[in-house]
Amino acid sequence: MASTYNINSTFKLNSGYEIPRLGFGVYQTPPEGTQKACLEALKVGYRHIDSAAAYRNEAGVGEALRASGIPRSEIFFTSKVPTSGVKGGYEATKAQIEKSLKTAGVDYLDLMLLHAPYGGSAARKGAWKALVEGVEEGKLRSIGISNYGVHHLDELEQHIAELKAERGNGGVISVGQYEIHPWCARNDIIDWCAKRNIACEAYSPVVQGARWGDKTLVKLAEKHGKTEAQILLRWSLQKGLVPLPKSVTPSRIKENAELYEFELSKEDMAELETNEYAPVCWDPLKSELDN
Ligand SMILES: NC(=O)c1ccc[n+]([C@@H]2O[C@H](COP(=O)([O-])OP(=O)(O)OC[C@H]3O[C@@H](n4cnc5c(N)ncnc54)[C@H](OP(=O)(O)O)[C@@H]3O)[C@@H](O)[C@H]2O)c1
Repeated sequence: MASTYNINSTFKLNSGYEIPRLGFGVYQTPPEGTQKACLEALKVGYRHIDSAAAYRNEAGVGEALRASGIPRSEIFFTSKVPTSGVKGGYEATKAQIEKSLKTAGVDYLDLMLLHAPYGGSAARKGAWKALVEGVEEGKLRSIGISNYGVHHLDELEQHIAELKAERGNGGVISVGQYEIHPWCARNDIIDWCAKRNIACEAYSPVVQGARWGDKTLVKLAEKHGKTEAQILLRWSLQKGLVPLPKSVTPSRIKENAELYEFELSKEDMAELETNEYAPVCWDPLKSELDN
């Protein structure tokens, strides 16, 4: 069946830049294996890599960008300011931007996210201001947040309005990154982002392998002649999300990018989604504003 997407599909961000709709995650990819995994991904067509300072493998991603022979402008590279940076507010986030650029050996990042909303309101506002300055200085192309609950997002909109009044530019949110899969669908977050044209990225999109063998998943895999991972990733794409599957295994890296020769029906999509709230990763969304 014809499919709406292909591996080159992109989403136009509020920053004006385009983000590839399929990403390649490197959380828990060992630093010494990161270049190899990323080169494998680039070889089979991924053009979007999701790292973070906390993963300690930004250097390996940078090496892969250079070794691939693909123009830098064609690869979308994300990093994240770690929890300690966000808690440290403006100064710590400024320092982290420099550190990430230096570690990866690049002169700009396509996307920098605040990894989690810890640190309290003043620290979050300072961290965001540092990202806005990073964009103004040409070091960051797009900026966003990860793991912010709706209460943190509402607060961020307030901070953006305040910064606009204080300094003329409060910045724009281009991306939100969240654990999303059929056992943690987060439709409130998806709606909040959709209303503002914010790209919603899905981490742990194959649930870190925790749901293999699920009855509905197996049934849909058999129906479409696809693997369970491919069904979950296709679900994510059809929800309008930007899935970020991680693998260090060449056959899986390839498999996770072969999502475009089939389509889930409306009924398949609904049957797969559950009302469960069962994240497999951490869950900073629930933290209080003063945390
Ligand atoms: N912002 C955040 O707080 C946050 C948190 C978590 C993750 N993330 C991002 O999202 C990315 C993905 O999330 P994740 O790493 O937690 O989980 P994931 O992608 O759902 O799962 C990765 C695990 O599934 C295995 N796997 C991948 N494809 C498979 C396939 N086709 N068949 C069987 N097993 C498969 C991988 O094994 P092998 O590697 O051994 O092949 C690995 O153990 C991360 O790498 C990171 O970039 C962000």
